[in-house]
Amino acid sequence: MIAVAIDGPAGAGKSTLARAAAKKLSFIYADTGALYRSIALNTVRNNIDVSDSVSIEKMLEKTEIELKFINDEQRVFLNGEDVSDKIRTSEISMAASAISALPAVRSFLLELQRELARKNNVIMDGRDIGTVVLPNAQVKIFLTASPECRAKRRYDEYIAKGKQENYEEILESIKQRDYNDSHRAIAPLKAADDAVLVDTSDDTPQQSVERIVKIIEEKTL
Ligand code: DC
Repeated sequence: MIAVAIDGPAGAGKSTLARAAAKKLSFIYADTGALYRSIALNTVRNNIDVSDSVSIEKMLEKTEIELKFINDEQRVFLNGEDVSDKIRTSEISMAASAISALPAVRSFLLELQRELARKNNVIMDGRDIGTVVLPNAQVKIFLTASPECRAKRRYDEYIAKGKQENYEEILESIKQRDYNDSHRAIAPLKAADDAVLVDTSDDTPQQSVERIVKIIEEKTL
């Protein structure tokens, strides 16, 4: 099996590019952020404070998260319910960033992610895929782009879905999440030593996809 790890900050284009590259190469695309978001959704639904690690740990004993691939599209199930669309809000983004700092949450999701890579040729995106989840991945890519560029992309995504959001607030939230994600004690967002750095600020999506596919082909063919 071939594993490609794509890590990077929020809004660097990971999911769009990883999905497109996976399609070109006939790999499955696994978006690990959706796993953290599902746990965040469960936390919010149960009225548990995102910093209340004791209650979250108890909640995890009764939490089942499953990834399914339907028509090549990943869907995430929380206790049997497809929550793939419900996890895409600003509230859940912030909550996911907070709960992802908890060791119990990270270890709860670790095996599920490794299992996927054992069974499939996969492009997996996240924050710690190349460093922690799949340290032996054949290809590791660290995607970045300026915070302003990433905020604009998120803003455009929300608007395209008909959601009312404010650019300045998204930018602030992205900077806050960058800080949280890179300063947490366990599995912080950082490039693996053997990752290829790709800055997508000045690329069109097509150009970035081509760059990524080329890197993957060079490393695996
Ligand atoms: O990629 P995303 O925006 O959907 O991720 C949501 C949050 O989940 C992000 O702020 C940090 C966390 N996360 C993580 O800690 N490790 C991962 N592999 C993926 C996401």
